[in-house]
Amino acid sequence: MEPKNSRASIRLSSNENNDGPSTKVKTAIKKSVNFSNIYPELDGETLRNQISKTYSLKSEQIILGAGSDEVLQMIYAAFTKPGDEVIFTKYAFAMYAIYAKNFNCKPKIFNDSQFQFSLNEFAKLASSKTKIIFLANPNNPTGSIFYKDEIIKFIKKINKKTLIVLDSAYCEYLQEKKYEDGLSLVKKFPNLIITRSFSKIYALGGLRIGWGYSSIKNISKLYQFKKPFNVSRLSCIAASEALKDQRWISKSVKNNINNKKFTIEQLDNSLFKTKDTTANFILLEFSHEKIANKFVKFLYRNKITVRHLASYHLPKHVRMTIGNLNEMKKTIKVCNSFDV
Ligand SMILES: Cc1ncc(COP(=O)(O)O)c(C=O)c1O
Repeated sequence: MEPKNSRASIRLSSNENNDGPSTKVKTAIKKSVNFSNIYPELDGETLRNQISKTYSLKSEQIILGAGSDEVLQMIYAAFTKPGDEVIFTKYAFAMYAIYAKNFNCKPKIFNDSQFQFSLNEFAKLASSKTKIIFLANPNNPTGSIFYKDEIIKFIKKINKKTLIVLDSAYCEYLQEKKYEDGLSLVKKFPNLIITRSFSKIYALGGLRIGWGYSSIKNISKLYQFKKPFNVSRLSCIAASEALKDQRWISKSVKNNINNKKFTIEQLDNSLFKTKDTTANFILLEFSHEKIANKFVKFLYRNKITVRHLASYHLPKHVRMTIGNLNEMKKTIKVCNSFDV
C-alpha cells in the first residue's frame, strides 16, 4: 500500500530500496509487534552484536541512531562548539550543512562543481582549525566516488586532531574490491568515524535506523549525547533480521545494477543527459531549470516522484532513484514522452 501522504504510485525521489524488506524481516516485525509495550534495549545491544558479527567489528565501537542522520547529529553535538570550522563540499548531503547551522558551526565549503573532484584539493582546505570533515562516499546527490587508495592518502594528509566522517550510506551498492567502506581503516586512523544506514539497500528507511563506528574514545563521547532508547524495538529487530538475510541484500544489489543499466540504456530524450552513479540513483541534466521543473511536474502528473535538485544548488538536475523493473519500465516510457 502506498503511504497516504504520497499521490504518486512510483516513488523515485528519496533513494529508497523499492524491493522493500525481505519476507523474513517482515515476519520478524509482525512477531515483535506484540511486544510493543516493552521499551527497547537501552543501547540496542542485540543489534550491535549482530552488526559486529556481520562485519567483524567490536560492538563497543558501534553506536546506533534513528537513521544515520541522528548519528551525524550526535557527532556535531559531541565534537563541536559554536564557531568551530567544519568542511564539506558544496553539493554534499544536505544534513551536514543543516546541522552546521543548528550547532552554529562555520562551514568551509569546497566547490565540487565538477561532481567528481580531487581529494587532494579538498584536503588543502583543511587546517589545524578544522574540527570535522564530512565526506559521503559515494556522495548523494552528485555520485562522486573515491576508492580505498585515494581515501587513505586523503586521511594521511589531514591533521590527526581533525575528525573525518566517512558517510557510507550507499556502500553496499558497491561491488568493486578497490572500494572501501572505511570500517577496516578505523583501527589505523582513530580520527575516522564511519556512518552507516539501514535506509538504503536494507530497505528500512521508514523505521529510522543507522549506526556509527569509530575508536572506543570517539564512540564513548558520542554516547554522552545519545538519548536512552533512541532507536525503537521494531527498528532494531528489523535491522538485525535484515543483516542475517544477506541473500536478499545480494539480490537487491544485483537488481539495482541491472535496472540501472536498463534505465540508462532505454532513456531516450534529447531534453536531458543521463549520468550514472555507483549508488541506487542516476542524475538527469537539463539545459535549463525551467525544463527540469516542468519535467518533475510532468512525472508527478503521471504519478511518479523524482527529486528536483534545486534545493541542492543544482537547478538543472533531477535525481532519479532506481526502482524495480516494472517501475522503471513505466518511468522510462513517461520520460521518453516528455516534451516542452
Ligand atoms: C549520503 C547520505 N548520508 C546519510 C543519509 C541519511 O540516511 P538515514 O538517516 O536514513 O540513515 C542519506 C539519506 O539519503 C544520504 O544520502
